[in-house]
Amino acid sequence: MIDGFSLVGPILRSFDPDTAHDLTIRALKTGLVPPVCRAEDPILRCRLWGLDFPNPLGMAAGFDKNAEVVDSLLRLGFGFVEAGTVTPRPQPGNPRPRMFRLPAQGALINRLGFNNRGLEAFAGRLAARRQRSGIGTGIVGANVGRNKDTVDAAADYVAGVAALAPLADYLVVNVSSPNTPGLRALQGREPLAELLGRVRAALAGAALAGSAVAPPPLLLKIAPDLTAEDLADVAEVALASGIDGLIVSNTTIARPAGLPPALAGEAGGLSGRPLFGPSTVVLAEIYRLTGGRLPIIGCGGIASASDAYDKIRAGASLVQLYTALIYRGPGLIGEIKRGLAARLRADGFSCVAEAVGTGL
Ligand SMILES: Cc1cc2nc3c(=O)[nH]c(=O)nc-3n(C[C@H](O)[C@H](O)[C@H](O)COP(=O)(O)O)c2cc1C
Repeated sequence: MIDGFSLVGPILRSFDPDTAHDLTIRALKTGLVPPVCRAEDPILRCRLWGLDFPNPLGMAAGFDKNAEVVDSLLRLGFGFVEAGTVTPRPQPGNPRPRMFRLPAQGALINRLGFNNRGLEAFAGRLAARRQRSGIGTGIVGANVGRNKDTVDAAADYVAGVAALAPLADYLVVNVSSPNTPGLRALQGREPLAELLGRVRAALAGAALAGSAVAPPPLLLKIAPDLTAEDLADVAEVALASGIDGLIVSNTTIARPAGLPPALAGEAGGLSGRPLFGPSTVVLAEIYRLTGGRLPIIGCGGIASASDAYDKIRAGASLVQLYTALIYRGPGLIGEIKRGLAARLRADGFSCVAEAVGTGL
């Protein structure tokens, strides 16, 4: 698949996106994908939250919603993988079609709606993996959300983090997907403060109960569509609540000019190239508002080494991608890592951390 993506890619894209995704997961599960065994360039190593990342490029949430193929993704060369979003109970998501390709724009619109097999299956897979390979064989984050029909949203997040605290290297509270009604309202000042307070208390409880040695770092994933006022609130609440980092950003509900009119009207979140500019602006603003005190994972529209470098210079300590992988295949991972290492050296940096925020 790695060198053959020019062959496999068009075949996958001849299926509807949901089916293509299922086939890709199946291929990754059966190990049909050869591993990339090249040694990592030491300049790409990052240490954050007590974790050693071999490189700063991660697989974003939403690709491996059920934590089925995290090790295959790590073998492709990602420095870390974020599984999920998982909800406490399994749910089917929205009716199909619910994913739309915009190849000329390098973009995608999705309204999947947190389709996943639920927390128990997810936790079971991560537990089995830990038993098989032990701790420290590749960084895996778990991204948690709420069920569509839940009344007490915070209780769903509490259930997610409590179950996954002993099993994940970091946890993400996802309040930014556009496809679960009411979800993004949790980004408001008071609901967010309450949510993060309850989640932090649950994590501390899990650690006290001995199910996790120390609670894993807790991150908050936000939308790119927040107003300047919203962003100031998020930054303040994030700092006050004692969480460990932010992911900026999820998909956008905005529809920038230049999208094909037939698809621009589809409901859902837009990802890929058109998201790069807006999500990087929000990243830089959040970095400024938090004074660089909270590490940020930059995500949104990354499709090249120069995009990844721009995110780092705008304040990201790590980066993630999803959509570009659909169009470019796994060869893009090595391309970005090599290009990033070359850029860091050309600018006289000895590690990623030195470059964070230097473009502002
Ligand atoms: C098909 C699809 C499904 C996604 N599902 C999730 C999800 O379950 N949870 C989440 O936090 N983000 C989800 N995302 C958002 C991505 O993690 C990422 O934030 C966003 O796509 C921007 O990155 P990109 O432009 O590189 O794709 C999804 C994105 C896509 C394209």
